[in-house]
Amino acid sequence: MLTELQNIFTPTRVSNSAEDLKKYGKDWTTYFDINASFIVFPESAEEVQKLVQLARLKKIALIPSGGRTGLSGGACALNGEIIVSFERMNKVLEFNPIEQTVRVQCGMITEELQEYAKSKGLLYPVDFAARGSSHIGGNVATNAGGIKVVRYGLTRDWVVGLKVVTGTGAILNLNQSLVKNATGYDLRHLFIGSEGTLGFVTEVTLRLAAPQTPAKVLFLGSDSLAQVMQTYSLFKKHTTLIAFEMLSDKALKYVEQATGMSSPLSSPAKFYIVSEIECPSEKHEQQIMEALEKALEAGHIVDGTVSQNEAQTKIFWRFREDITESLARYTPYKNDISVRVSKVPALIEEMDPIFAKNYPTWDVIWFGHIGDGNLHISILRPADMTKEEFVKECRKVDALIFQAIKNQQGSISAEHGVGLTKKPFLSFTRSAEEIALMRGVKMVFDPDHIINPGKLID
Ligand code: MLT
Ligand code: ZN
Repeated sequence: MLTELQNIFTPTRVSNSAEDLKKYGKDWTTYFDINASFIVFPESAEEVQKLVQLARLKKIALIPSGGRTGLSGGACALNGEIIVSFERMNKVLEFNPIEQTVRVQCGMITEELQEYAKSKGLLYPVDFAARGSSHIGGNVATNAGGIKVVRYGLTRDWVVGLKVVTGTGAILNLNQSLVKNATGYDLRHLFIGSEGTLGFVTEVTLRLAAPQTPAKVLFLGSDSLAQVMQTYSLFKKHTTLIAFEMLSDKALKYVEQATGMSSPLSSPAKFYIVSEIECPSEKHEQQIMEALEKALEAGHIVDGTVSQNEAQTKIFWRFREDITESLARYTPYKNDISVRVSKVPALIEEMDPIFAKNYPTWDVIWFGHIGDGNLHISILRPADMTKEEFVKECRKVDALIFQAIKNQQGSISAEHGVGLTKKPFLSFTRSAEEIALMRGVKMVFDPDHIINPGKLID
């Protein structure tokens, strides 16, 4: 196998060193035993095609690997698979100033794409804390959302074209960057959110947005999630929201401990909001201040402050964006769920007693993109518990949480994907008929089950 891989990739772009296998065989999850056989570093779709042909012949499984920031085990190798790292395919291929689109290789880092768009006086608006490491190919595979979905939507909304190598070894150019294309099934959208189970995305063409208008960032404190939702509704009505994020008092405490920063508010609250709002003029600023006063008067918030400069804006955002890193040393068990925004309070009401009964002494940390109905729940592992015991306990409670989500017609994974971690629970969100159709789609694109097998669906 080593010789065959070296023939395709040259010896310098194949590795089976223990160090590399450990590094490239996993994502940000911490609960899987990693077992990869090789890592290859393609530089073109044609090389990927040759690899797929070889893998079909030898019945060897392949795993796509981007920035490895995933949180569902979607890029983990557990069964001696070959890891396909796209870190060398990281270039801008074409910028089209008339269409305001950019064609990039799949291994481009999200933040570099954002910077590139900026250098052209434009904006790539999909944004999240992992921007400095995640790849655009991985963003497509998981239909990444993040912090600005309320204003700019998800990755899907920006993809106008894809080049993919399917599990049959075909190279497809999907949608050719057209705005209008009424010629049947839009296969591009099947690949977006497919979690790398149908083939490899090698190139992505994205629309870019007009540069962001000046904005204000607010840091607010509220006494209940119901009041947070009221605040959201009020601001949504009177201002143009770019982001509306929530973190609990415990989340704030862990960020304070990890970073040495302290809350921008003088009085404590049970929940905090970080909200970015468009503010291109004094009139807009006045509207924001009026909304803030209304929220205070109505008791929706107990305290609040508006960023006065760039440095303060960064600090406000750090309270939200540093949560994942601040919790990492407690190897949290994560859930990433969503309901329609209006159903968030009802969902919380159903879930509160489940947590109170099952985790009376454990630290359960809530935060998330409350403006789009996406909540992140991180359960911290007690120091005296092994990882195995902890996961077993959490999984028992998952079934109860997911039933509550099903009752509210929500999703067991809003943005992190199903991967390995949520696969046993897929039926809480997707019907048996849907899952059967998904299996059928997988069979068409990957008849030999060599592309990221065992992820999303069996
Ligand atoms: C976030 O919103 O910060 C990410 O989805 C990461 C996480 O849930 O830890
Ligand atoms: Zn998130």
